[in-house]
Amino acid sequence: MTDQAASASKLETGVSQLRCIACGAVRESDATNVRCAHCGDLLEVVYPGWKTSAGMRAAGLDAPELKELWRQRRESYKPLDQSGVWRFREVLPALSDWSQVITLREGNTPVYELPGCGRAAGVQQLYAKHQGMNPTGSFKDTGMTSAASFARERGFRWVACASTGNTSASMAAYAARAGMRSLVLIPQGQITWGKLSQALDYGAVTCQLKTDFDGCMRVLGEVVQRMPVYLLNSVNPYRLEGQKTAAVELVERFDWQAPDHVIVPGGNLGNSSALGKAFLEMKELGLISRLPKLSVIQAEGANALVRTMRETGGRKLISVHAETMATAIRIGSPASWKKAVRVLEATGGAVEQVSEVEIALAKAEIGADGIGCEPASAVTLAGLKKLVKQGFVKRNESVVLILTGNLLKDPDFTLKFHRGDLFAGTPQEEEAESILSPRQHAPMVLDANVNTVVKVLEHAERTESREYGGR
Ligand code: F0G
Repeated sequence: MTDQAASASKLETGVSQLRCIACGAVRESDATNVRCAHCGDLLEVVYPGWKTSAGMRAAGLDAPELKELWRQRRESYKPLDQSGVWRFREVLPALSDWSQVITLREGNTPVYELPGCGRAAGVQQLYAKHQGMNPTGSFKDTGMTSAASFARERGFRWVACASTGNTSASMAAYAARAGMRSLVLIPQGQITWGKLSQALDYGAVTCQLKTDFDGCMRVLGEVVQRMPVYLLNSVNPYRLEGQKTAAVELVERFDWQAPDHVIVPGGNLGNSSALGKAFLEMKELGLISRLPKLSVIQAEGANALVRTMRETGGRKLISVHAETMATAIRIGSPASWKKAVRVLEATGGAVEQVSEVEIALAKAEIGADGIGCEPASAVTLAGLKKLVKQGFVKRNESVVLILTGNLLKDPDFTLKFHRGDLFAGTPQEEEAESILSPRQHAPMVLDANVNTVVKVLEHAERTESREYGGR
């Protein structure tokens, strides 16, 4: 990638600092600790160089110049330009050596219309930005390319994360590409096989700890104090910078108009914080003229942010013991809660929770639109339905759901759903049966006989005509 190094002029680089979100202490961005040295709270990347006498400019460029530069890069074959993250490098922290970038050509994810889901939710303009179409199948890749590149530039041999599965898959891939070693701490029995197998294939040292995600985070916090390993969880501010670019791609796709609403699943709350930061920065830089309302949806059984907002007005974190089949967001003590609260307040977004049955139904509806996603992503559609009923989202407003993970991440959930086993033996069994059965398509075991298959086909045609009014 030395051609990038040569072509990346000083103008393209963003001079950045790290600032503590609580006490405001600032330090240069070459520091390696991801928490504030004074008060221990989280850090965020800020760009003092953007404020010039001529207004807000990133890398010395104004908004129309940035838009044109980013558009031109879409025709380039250089790895840095082909990455949907580094194409926007003027709004990211600069590496001192661009050849250190580790890229799998992440980002560049599609925006799909969701007509069936739009009808189900009662909105006319519904879209999905599918971050599950990233190289390792989740949105984590956009943040991983940036934070892992900083780890490499700083000479770390080891990177590490605690994870509900997607972060570990992504981190292991980026570390492997750069010849770095990776340490993964995951809650035993609580991550999907798809995600676990990715970490193994990419060569991570994978430890299944007998605890939950929050327990893994606690252990890792101490491991990184004792050993020279670089923490790649979303408390790492460079992760969030890469994740910002999904928002930039999104508004670029809509000719730099933000939609009325963006709806994001909430787990550790890094992603909602990153996307919110992006919208606020784009507004400051004049790239967009108005903000979308960014709403965060959680599973009822992992609803720390919902409770934090409702019971304390966002002032004090209420941790919960997390339980949900959407294992990606089975998190009780979200690290980035303060950043997420700030985003909710700045954009006027809502926070909502959805039940397990609502998640399962929404996932099937997203599948029926030919898109599909993992359960954690489906909370967005389930939450949207509630926000429409409450009148927070109006019928004629434009809405974008951020789908965070690929359908193939959790085939077990999907198979159980279609076989009707997902809620077997749970208190929701009866409710689930009546709500979900119209969406279930169980596989059939048949004799290898033409007539039998033709009969099945004829039966399916008749029932389909009834279900869809002869469409
Ligand atoms: N959706 C998926 C598919 C996820 O994997 C995650 C988080 C989220 C949503 C929530 O995002 O944490 O930024 O609020 N997964 C992390 C992991 C925790 O370890 O893979 P968040």
